[in-house]
Amino acid sequence: PSLKKVFANDFAIGTAMNTRQIEEKDPASDALIKEQFNVVTPENIMKAEIIHPGWDRYDFDLADKLVAYAAKNNIRVNAHTLIWHSQLPAFMQHMQDADSVKQFFQQHITTIAGRYDNKVYSWDVVNEALNEDGTLRKSIFLEKLGEDYIVDAFRLAQKAAPHTKLYYNDYNIEQPAKRAGAIAIIKKIQAAGVRIDGVGIQGHWKTGTVPFSDIEASIRAFSALGIEVMFTELDLTVLPNPWDNATADVGATAQAGEKMNPYPGGLPDSVQQSLANDYAALFNLFLRYKKNVTRITFWGVNDGQSWLNGWPIRGRTNYPLLFDRNFKPKPAFYSVIKAA
Ligand code: XIL
Repeated sequence: PSLKKVFANDFAIGTAMNTRQIEEKDPASDALIKEQFNVVTPENIMKAEIIHPGWDRYDFDLADKLVAYAAKNNIRVNAHTLIWHSQLPAFMQHMQDADSVKQFFQQHITTIAGRYDNKVYSWDVVNEALNEDGTLRKSIFLEKLGEDYIVDAFRLAQKAAPHTKLYYNDYNIEQPAKRAGAIAIIKKIQAAGVRIDGVGIQGHWKTGTVPFSDIEASIRAFSALGIEVMFTELDLTVLPNPWDNATADVGATAQAGEKMNPYPGGLPDSVQQSLANDYAALFNLFLRYKKNVTRITFWGVNDGQSWLNGWPIRGRTNYPLLFDRNFKPKPAFYSVIKAA
């Protein structure tokens, strides 16, 4: 079965594409991408450090390649991302002069969004601008341009890319305080008469603790603003995170390192099953709101490619996606298909 086919009347189904896949050096992923997904998000290659490595220097090679690949295969591109505090080029990171930051900001958005208008479907215009308490996150943009930088980013993107959907994207914005911050951002953009088409909830959650009721409340609250709601970087870690209390329970006698990587030899059936149950429940929820939820994107094709093998701790073996390291569908894949 194919995810994009079974959900064809409900929402778009996406995956992140990593650099090797975009370079067409990974035929096994390629086959699966064409079979399962109708929208892709570049995992890294459109971030500023790669696409805009020097003050006057842009590198569009891989982005152009991705756009051509998508057009040829009838796949949409959600471009990621224009304005983000992370993965900035070195020349940008410690820029002192506010005028230079402003010039970078304007040129960056105008050049890149302009080049890909009519070629990509949508942009994550601003990514991760919020703290957990809903206040604006400290960044070079906030510091040098002031809090209007978010509205300004959307205004510039709208001008440069009038045919492209424009989104705000962040993690944990299903949580009430941070959600309120996201709502404030969206309302401020709308009040300025600037276009925002949707909001992306990243969806980096954890098996066993998926915040279903906050997710549902967020779908309702964001939809009430008249915009699309998307889940844009979905994965469910099966490993303890250093910040959660559950960590202490994973093998009382094990070393700290082992506690953080309890299943290096494979996922026990019981955890495999909870992952499948959580994914099924999530898709059942998304389906109840299919009028408002327009896209579900997984953050990677298979478990071996997931960023969660390296974050927040390097060298872990994680199993957060629907396909295993051999590209075989897991029980979670079949439970999602069954939800359709
Ligand atoms: C991650 C990529 O998956 C990694 O390959 C990279 O090293 C760091 O960034 N939120 C986002 C994504 O918006 O861009 C991040 O992607 C994951 C968290």
